[in-house]
Amino acid sequence: MLARDWYYNERGRIGLEPVVASIYDRHDDSDRRARAALTMLGVQKGWRVADIGCGNAVLATEAALMGAEVDAVDISPAMLRLAEVYARDRRAPVRMQSAGLLSFAYQPNSYDLIVSEFTLHHLPDFWKAVAMSRIHAALKPGANFYLRDIVFVSMPDGSERSVEQWADFHIKNHDFVRDSVVTHMRDEYSTFGWVMERMLTEVGFTLVSADYHAPMHGTYLLQKPGGQG
Ligand SMILES: C[S@@+](CC[C@H](N)C(=O)[O-])C[C@H]1O[C@@H](n2cnc3c(N)ncnc32)[C@H](O)[C@@H]1O
Repeated sequence: MLARDWYYNERGRIGLEPVVASIYDRHDDSDRRARAALTMLGVQKGWRVADIGCGNAVLATEAALMGAEVDAVDISPAMLRLAEVYARDRRAPVRMQSAGLLSFAYQPNSYDLIVSEFTLHHLPDFWKAVAMSRIHAALKPGANFYLRDIVFVSMPDGSERSVEQWADFHIKNHDFVRDSVVTHMRDEYSTFGWVMERMLTEVGFTLVSADYHAPMHGTYLLQKPGGQG
């Protein structure tokens, strides 16, 4: 096959990785929240689970401790090094994969669950749909994709207010600095919630639920049609 020289370069932004990694080397209740999400998603011993854009692998680690076979995928080598230490300290057997949404290796129809949290906004919209399509192909029929990201719920004329609310929320609840919000708005690719929903269904997912709760946060539960029941 010819090399696709037009394919999106996911590694283009990992120059920022030490900054990102330092943000994520923090201590909070994210392990408890990850465990609650995985329980809600019905994770069972022996399930094949992937977390794409795993960050420091808190969710991947909890899934492994619940008995799942877990692939933790991230484009940033610095982040994966943190993830390795985090999982090893908790004796969680997590397989690390240095790859991205557009390049992770998979067997078709092989995963019982794929999770991606706060990562898809790194891709422009066309490439978001390519990533969604790869995730759809990697899941077993009937399996779920759990997606969370920063999305716009208002139209541009209302966005100033939502961005400021989101900045306040972020700083208050997650110890983030305002600069991370500024960088996100200026340099990353959050899109509208309704664009996300349409793309997800166009690539073949059934939208089980879409929840827009905290400012600019979208949480989607998708199912790949088919399977038993
Ligand atoms: C905001 S962090 C979220 C980390 C974790 N999922 C969480 O919720 O705490 C985004 C992560 O996505 C990774 N990332 C950025 N672009 C990516 C891509 N194209 N594919 C996979 N991971 C990517 C970054 O290295 C970073 O670890």
